[in-house]
Amino acid sequence: MSDHPTSVTQPASASSHEPRTLLVTGGAGFIGSAIVTAALEQGWAVRVFDSLRPDVHAAQLGRPAGLDPRVDFRLGDMTDPAAVADSLVDVTVVCHQAAKVGLGVDFLDAPDYVASNELGTAILLAAMTTAGIDRLVLASSMVVYGEGSYRRASSTGSIETGETDDTGSAGSRGETVRPPARLVADLEAGRFDPVDTETGVPLEPALIFEDAPLDPRNVYASSKLSQEYLATAWSRSTGGRAVALRYHNVYGPGMPQNTPYAGVASLFRSALERGEAPRVFEDGLQRRDFVHVRDVAAANLAAIDNTALPNPGGAFRAFNVGSGTVHTIGDLATELSRWSNGPAPVTTGEYRLGDVRHITASSERLRLELHWMPAVTFEQGVREFATAPLRAAVSTPSTAPPSTALPSTHA
Ligand SMILES: NC(=O)c1ccc[n+]([C@@H]2O[C@H](COP(=O)([O-])OP(=O)(O)OC[C@H]3O[C@@H](n4cnc5c(N)ncnc54)[C@H](O)[C@@H]3O)[C@@H](O)[C@H]2O)c1
Repeated sequence: MSDHPTSVTQPASASSHEPRTLLVTGGAGFIGSAIVTAALEQGWAVRVFDSLRPDVHAAQLGRPAGLDPRVDFRLGDMTDPAAVADSLVDVTVVCHQAAKVGLGVDFLDAPDYVASNELGTAILLAAMTTAGIDRLVLASSMVVYGEGSYRRASSTGSIETGETDDTGSAGSRGETVRPPARLVADLEAGRFDPVDTETGVPLEPALIFEDAPLDPRNVYASSKLSQEYLATAWSRSTGGRAVALRYHNVYGPGMPQNTPYAGVASLFRSALERGEAPRVFEDGLQRRDFVHVRDVAAANLAAIDNTALPNPGGAFRAFNVGSGTVHTIGDLATELSRWSNGPAPVTTGEYRLGDVRHITASSERLRLELHWMPAVTFEQGVREFATAPLRAAVSTPSTAPPSTALPSTHA
């Protein structure tokens, strides 16, 4: 994938006097809604294109309740070329959030992932080409990496301060190691950390950088990577500018409730809302980067501005979007229980083959090149989220009990 450096100049002013319309696909969703709010605050005229998927939204027949009246809402599916083309009239930039998200129920979901995410993106990019729109921000995901970054225990350097080195050089951050898939026997025995196959010593988790190997391990992940590849091909072919934002674990108000597609923060929060203890898989020490939805929205606005800059070196650029602080799944459950006055979490030792043990991001590239800084700390964000409203529940297998809840790897 093309991943050239972009120039580090000030982004285009968000308060330009030119008429500017931002299309947010999936703008009725969890992250899209936050982007819409941030874009309106920055003076954009905002259009939303969303199919209001029935497995995502509780029965909604038309314009979503609560959508800002300034938003031009278009109901339609990414796989409908005519509706997509119509939504692009007079649009300056596209912020593409629409996707079927999460791990899904089983492999029978594959055609739906491929249609919504891959075909939908191809249709969007073709329509943008026809309409002469050359600026795209794409919602990607940490799932494109497949597994976190690790290094040998003997390596030097601090995991937490890996942010200072964005060279991609393994040597300067210690020897990085790609662990093989974890074995059932190890997981059964509670040995959750990947080990160095040469020494048998557990590997140290490290921050993942954008140049890490890409290794999607499920259909959702492969569809997110395919979206990146499509955007790369589009930018090469048309000269358009594309920024892909690889979100890490996004949480915050408006998260969906306990659905087969939900992230771990929402699963814990939904359990607490039912008066039940959050059930934490493995030993709860899985490391993640939890990033607040308002910070993700701000990253999108910075990326939108960035696509206005000329970039002779290359037209596609990927960025991690994380808070830069490392927390464990257990931390999250404990803090949510605390701030909602709920029962303490239960660490179950359950596991799922294929789950990522640790994955945490370096978001240094985003800070340096797009001048973005997270504003919401873990403490503030989790405290607010513990009592914030979730999105209305839908009547699908969504209300499955937490013992069958999907685990922590969704993003
Ligand atoms: N939530 C996370 O932690 C996370 C992490 C990494 C990446 N992402 C990505 O961020 C984006 C937004 O995710 P979200 O968490 O807000 O999900 P969401 O389900 O809340 O929002 C997605 C929206 O897209 C719409 N949509 C889905 N398929 C569509 C289609 N074919 N046509 C039109 N609209 C369609 C849905 O109706 C929904 O409103 C997605 O691209 C997702 O892959 C999310």
